[in-house]
Amino acid sequence: MKVLIIGSGGREHALAWAIRKSPRVGEVVCAPGNGGIAQVARLVNANQKDVNDLLRPVVAENPDLTVVGPEVPLALGLVDEMQRRSLAVFGPTRAAAMLETSKAFAKRFMQRHKIPTANYAVSATQEEALEALELFHLPVVIKADGLAAGKGVLICNTKKEAQDAITGLFSGKLLGTVETSVVIEEFLEGEEISFLVLSDGKHVAPLVPAQDHKRIGEGDTGPNTGGMGVYTTDAILDPQMREWIMNHIVQPTIDGMAAEDTPFAGVLYCGLMMTARGPMVLEYNARFGDPETQAILVRLESDLLEGLAACVEGRLGSTEFRWRQGASACVVAASQGYPGSYITGQQITGLDEAAKITGVEVFHAGTTLLDGSYLTNGGRVLAVTAAADSLENALGLAYEGIGKIHFDGMYYRRDIGYRALKSRA
Ligand code: AMP
Ligand code: GLY
Repeated sequence: MKVLIIGSGGREHALAWAIRKSPRVGEVVCAPGNGGIAQVARLVNANQKDVNDLLRPVVAENPDLTVVGPEVPLALGLVDEMQRRSLAVFGPTRAAAMLETSKAFAKRFMQRHKIPTANYAVSATQEEALEALELFHLPVVIKADGLAAGKGVLICNTKKEAQDAITGLFSGKLLGTVETSVVIEEFLEGEEISFLVLSDGKHVAPLVPAQDHKRIGEGDTGPNTGGMGVYTTDAILDPQMREWIMNHIVQPTIDGMAAEDTPFAGVLYCGLMMTARGPMVLEYNARFGDPETQAILVRLESDLLEGLAACVEGRLGSTEFRWRQGASACVVAASQGYPGSYITGQQITGLDEAAKITGVEVFHAGTTLLDGSYLTNGGRVLAVTAAADSLENALGLAYEGIGKIHFDGMYYRRDIGYRALKSRA
């Protein structure tokens, strides 16, 4: 099979790396890819924010399967356009991706299908939102309805902060785009878990659960990022809790979407808060998480391509997934200044030494290859990932790997997985 992957991050590097291992694969092509992905795939140019531009490599390469990584092409309807042309594509349609692209849609959907989530109000005007705010305790969470690359969620400790968030979203001052709908939400407390499943629209297959570290600073401080590190272990969720999440959250979501004639096929990412009242959905994503995917895929022993093809062909019910026992960890190296402004073009050294460590995979999130050397080309630059028999060993390997790597301004959190280690100590 010839496989085309859309995207350019660490997630797509991990997808390309895992797909390349399939005995069914002939060639992997990635549009547009990055410096590291070029090691495992042939790169072709494309603007990820333009469906017509993305259709060019699809038509020119004629792949047997296209795998869509990021959310923007899903929101733009790339999958719908490909399905219209009878081209095999892994990812949800635009209507199904609304679970991610509209928080108001997702909240109302969960209410219709009795899926546990925080109490909320959706308001279409600033006046309505300010009035609804009076019904909430502090702290309160204010969310932009649409995609905002992680910047659309504001946790407000005072009423003034919440009012400013609401006016800032409706005026466009906060995100640069005027929101036409804002979600006000009850603040939930607990541990966050990324629970990802594959679905063919009817059947589901869970991936190993993961815990992301979204804040830039150690001890979970500072602004939110795309994710600074992640770990997976068999102990994150016990079998009963996993079963509960499948029965009360995952399957009702897939069944609800099917019942509403917008079946969800692809990867459904449930961002869960493990509250005292039980697991609740914080958000859905309609795609693989980044860096969750890197940590998840180093533990997958079965053929990823076969699993993705089973989703597209509606035969996930008869597909088995085998996982390596133990744990995995992924530590992200970021450019100084991220998630704010940062410079690019810094030379990266030590990649070969890191990759030589048995069990370590260095996935590239934002790099370019120029005259044989790798340069930084993004906020998140590398995702150093390892699988091992225990979390201690997986973290040890990932940190040993990242310790070999250097670029000017390189920053990484030294406390990935610390909460899991502490709770066991
Ligand atoms: P979201 O994009 O909806 O996942 O929100 C980004 C992050 O904001 C989440 O990963 C949580 O850390 C936090 N968050 C979102 N909603 C809530 C909530 N209702 N209560 C507490 N934290 C939240
Ligand atoms: N790591 C969080 C996300 O992919 O949305």
